[in-house]
Amino acid sequence: MGEARVARLTETDWRAFAGVRLRALTDSLGSDDPQFRQESTFTAAQWRRRLRAHAQFAVVVDHHPVGLIGAQRQGSEAVYLYSLWLDPAARGQGLGRTLVAEAVRWARTQRVRHVTLRVNVDNARARAVYDSLGFVVSGAGELDEVTMSLDVS
Ligand SMILES: CC(C)(COP(=O)(O)OP(=O)(O)OC[C@H]1O[C@@H](n2cnc3c(N)ncnc32)[C@H](O)[C@@H]1OP(=O)(O)O)[C@@H](O)C(=O)NCCC(=O)NCCS
Repeated sequence: MGEARVARLTETDWRAFAGVRLRALTDSLGSDDPQFRQESTFTAAQWRRRLRAHAQFAVVVDHHPVGLIGAQRQGSEAVYLYSLWLDPAARGQGLGRTLVAEAVRWARTQRVRHVTLRVNVDNARARAVYDSLGFVVSGAGELDEVTMSLDVS
């Protein structure tokens, strides 16, 4: 595998974004899932709109995006991270941490106080990534999720 880098995707990257996002949804939820079915019909304009609305970071290897994380401002105090995903072939090399670290770096530039996210209580790999960056459990999420938070003030 070539060297990995993290890039913030811009509107002109919408095709690559659509490709990796749909792969993530298929891998995580399956192609019968309503979320996948909805997003698989998105037009170029809808993908572009999403890239304008939120920051999307991809980990790129040999010019191919192999992982993704989304980040959005939540009011004046927080940035919310969501949809962390790595291609199964790219796992086990620390790239999840690299991706989350880049999103946290971006959050710091937004001058917020906290970075928050939700994770399934049983998702040991993801939780290990968040723990290693200093996130701590800050409350209960929906169903079997917990919310985690990192102070960046
Ligand atoms: C979460 C995800 C991005 C992490 O990928 P990754 O960076 O390749 O993760 P790794 O395999 O390197 O594991 C991360 C850490 O967890 C540890 N780990 C792996 N499996 C584990 C397990 N079953 N129990 C506990 N720790 C585990 C690893 O040792 C590693 O720690 P280290 O860096 O100190 O060695 C990836 O697994 C993924 O895309 N999963 C599917 C989508 C998902 O769950 N997203 C998170 C939504 S909140």
